[in-house]
Amino acid sequence: MSKSDDHGQNPLFEPIRVGPYLLRNRIVKSPMSRMRAAQNDMPTTLMAEYYSQRASAGLIITESVQISRQGKGYRNSPGIYNDEQMRAWKTIADGVHARGAVIFMQLWHCGRLSHPDLQLNGGQPVGPSAIRPNVEVYTDSGPQAVPEPHEMDSDEIAQVVDQYFQASLRAKKANVDGIEVHAGNGFLLDQFLRDGTNRRTDHYGGSVENRVRLLIEVVEAIIPIWGADRIGVKMSPLSTYGDIRDSNPEALYSHLVSRLNGYGLAYLHFAEGELLSSRDVPGLDFARLRRMFHGPVIGNNCYDLAQATEALQSGKVDMIAFARLFAANPDLVERFRLGAELNELDVTTLQSGGAKGYTDYPKLL
Ligand SMILES: Cc1cc2nc3c(=O)[nH]c(=O)nc-3n(C[C@H](O)[C@H](O)[C@H](O)COP(=O)(O)O)c2cc1C
Repeated sequence: MSKSDDHGQNPLFEPIRVGPYLLRNRIVKSPMSRMRAAQNDMPTTLMAEYYSQRASAGLIITESVQISRQGKGYRNSPGIYNDEQMRAWKTIADGVHARGAVIFMQLWHCGRLSHPDLQLNGGQPVGPSAIRPNVEVYTDSGPQAVPEPHEMDSDEIAQVVDQYFQASLRAKKANVDGIEVHAGNGFLLDQFLRDGTNRRTDHYGGSVENRVRLLIEVVEAIIPIWGADRIGVKMSPLSTYGDIRDSNPEALYSHLVSRLNGYGLAYLHFAEGELLSSRDVPGLDFARLRRMFHGPVIGNNCYDLAQATEALQSGKVDMIAFARLFAANPDLVERFRLGAELNELDVTTLQSGGAKGYTDYPKLL
């Protein structure tokens, strides 16, 4: 069998229905913060070029987009909290649509993973509890240690739910096809989920039922705008990225997945294991979680073509999200299809710079 015949059988290239969309393949461009936004968190035309270069993916998930000024924790990350940003995102979405792909916007609030230098008027970052992470963030004056966050009160939590609502409305006007709610990687919603960061004694802390409350409120707030079948949720249950952990991931994620299953969401997206290093981490029966959810599941983290193929063939997941491979290979889908060599990633330009290491990776053809 020739290489191309071999890849012709590959389930990665089979279409799949996600909500109302028929994706042309099961290769997802994983969300990646590339830090190319302009002043005032504005998306740029360079970003539009970057996304449309990768539009042969079945599904493009944007980088994390802050829902509010308060949600910011990274330099040069884009926002969707004003109309100017909304119009710039529309240019990006239109470019991706012109090439036939489907694009979901990932919404985030960094919570405690921020710094006064990144906040309006030097404000204190917020979180579920006043627990300082052992993490540095990049500010205009270089990397700085993250301070202790302000513990949010119930009014401040309600404001965050409203920020998700407003951002989702603007995303709709920006003409993207759906929303991915970022509930992983140690950011605000994850900080509420896991008991290493959430020590609250009110109805947002303690039991798993209480700790999933904020995420569920966010999902329920945006369903009227988008419909559940255009909303996905990303989680990273075993990752400690962002100095975060949970004492019983099995109990937490079993409960969460069973709650989320009730809505008929577009998909669940799991960064498996330890982010950027290994999927092979004990502590969670992933196969059981997968069976509990009746919609499509995206797997992610350190997959190559062979492992992704195997994961789809075994039924472990329905789609695979690739991040670093997509950063270096705008035509990753075509390269996979041909079994071609991949470009090497330049890690020095992953989160800084302009076109270099962003839109100048060569395509095969
Ligand atoms: C530079 C960079 C930026 C990232 N930014 C995000 C992000 O904005 N949102 C997110 O959910 N994950 C983000 N991730 C994590 C990726 O989506 C993915 O989970 C991780 O890179 C593992 O996938 P991979 O092995 O295919 O690279 C980022 C990863 C990298 C390398």
